Amino acid sequence: MATVKNQSGLYVQFTVCLIGLFLLPLPSHSSDPDPLQDFCIGDTKSAFSVNGFPCKPAINVSSDDFFFDGLSKEGNTSNPFGSIVTPGNVLAFPGLNTLGISMNRVDVAPGGLNPPHSHPRAAETGVLINGKILVGIITTGNVLYSKILNPGQMFVIPKGLIHFEMNVGEEKALIFTAFNSHLPGAVVVPLNLFASKPSVPDGVLTKAFQVEKTVIDEIKSKFAA
Ligand code: GLV
Ligand code: MN
Repeated sequence: MATVKNQSGLYVQFTVCLIGLFLLPLPSHSSDPDPLQDFCIGDTKSAFSVNGFPCKPAINVSSDDFFFDGLSKEGNTSNPFGSIVTPGNVLAFPGLNTLGISMNRVDVAPGGLNPPHSHPRAAETGVLINGKILVGIITTGNVLYSKILNPGQMFVIPKGLIHFEMNVGEEKALIFTAFNSHLPGAVVVPLNLFASKPSVPDGVLTKAFQVEKTVIDEIKSKFAA
């Protein structure tokens, strides 16, 4: 409570309820900022770089800009991880530009793994369509939360946390994931650490993992392009 004296000498007492401050409109806490127009089909070829893509002129927008069939095809899982992520982000589907949402298709062969990774700009949710997967989430306090999912079951990954999906069934697994960012980004831990360009110095990795350089060399060789 606060008390002030006005010019006529009358005392005006008023209460400043701190709780009232909390009722004021709060800034958006979504991952991407809210759009300022109905749509802004991203001109992903533009030479200008802003926080998102410039909008394609509305006169050039057609129905096709609002549809995307890039997630309809099964991805090729013939790679060392036995999994493939097909992105439905703003780069693949410019109609998502500024809308703060996107999706992925994740195909995982039996025994395959979508390796530990995190999304710096988004929380993720997903639904398993086919197969049986182990989903794991590791917190900043190094606690692992995990569960084996069957078709129709969903999961959620809080923004920025490391997570993985492993196919623990006999069949191919198909997952659709969704994000609260038009470009969530992905930090894939093994690739980030062992396949960066230029590469992370061996001394950093031997110290970080407490192993000999031969071990680091072997891991790096697995990811050499
Ligand atoms: C799965 O974790 C994905 O990022 O699509
Ligand atoms: Mn993910």
